[in-house]
Amino acid sequence: MSLKPLKKAVLPVAGLGTRFLPATKAMAKEMLPVVDKPLIQYAVEEARAAGIEQFCFITGRGKTAIVEHFDVAYELERTLAERGKQAELDALRAQSMPPGSIVTVRQQVPMGLGHAIWCARAFIGDDPFAILLPDDLMMCETSCTAQLARAYEETGGNVVAIEEVPMERVNRYGVLDVAEDMGRLVSIKGLVEKPRVDQAPSNLTVIGRYVLMPEVITHLAKMERGSGNEVQLTDGMAKLIGHQPFHGLRYEGRRFDCGDKAGYLEAQVAFALQRPDMAPAMRAILKTYS
Ligand code: UTP
Repeated sequence: MSLKPLKKAVLPVAGLGTRFLPATKAMAKEMLPVVDKPLIQYAVEEARAAGIEQFCFITGRGKTAIVEHFDVAYELERTLAERGKQAELDALRAQSMPPGSIVTVRQQVPMGLGHAIWCARAFIGDDPFAILLPDDLMMCETSCTAQLARAYEETGGNVVAIEEVPMERVNRYGVLDVAEDMGRLVSIKGLVEKPRVDQAPSNLTVIGRYVLMPEVITHLAKMERGSGNEVQLTDGMAKLIGHQPFHGLRYEGRRFDCGDKAGYLEAQVAFALQRPDMAPAMRAILKTYS
């Protein structure tokens, strides 16, 4: 049987962003810029590079700017054209999305990532879908979501992007119980959300990139509370194991945890150093701190 193509992505953006207060009091965390682009735009561009055509943003209170960011800004475009600012105009137009490609769903109360994904159940329907958490910012030659999409085609099932972390930090992540480590791909026999360090089955952790089969919704619908008394996506995914293929993918590239202040600041430096228009100035600034 041929696999259904991966065309849908869910981007949960309804979290409170408490680690970034007061910046996130009136502004969505996902609108924080790295150099000159908001986090949400990096995630959307990564997904489009993987062939994703339909987007569902899970939003909540105070998140309207995220959706407006992808609107056409007529007045702004006209003003830029009148002032001859062609480069800025081209940059704005390059990010425009095909009409009808974004839907939003409200998560009225942030009850956890699993609950946020369940809120997208009508959008997901019977199709495989990608999840991108925009506060994990990826620097990859091949889009991380495209790497997952390829692994989905190879394995015919669920795939999550994974990385190794020092054992003492595993209690912050979803952790893999490994069935077989094949190098690039790892088959999974269990998943645990934020285990105690002395009880973690490995130091391989799930990052904010997933390709999942729609059946995960049935498990999330039970609204079982897990770690932190939240409905955890990890617990829903764990229930698929043994019934469907489930793999971890050691993706190629780097992740910056922009939900965390130090990770966010590091991303600013790393992304600026990658930009020909920014790198010389950034290097000169960094020298003054060494
Ligand atoms: P985080 O664990 O980073 O939580 O969520 P947060 O609320 O955004 O930030 P802190 O920890 O309070 O600083 C990971 C992702 O899941 C989304 C968030 O928006 C983020 O993209 N999320 C989390 C939801 O959409 N709904 C939830 O109920 C929880």
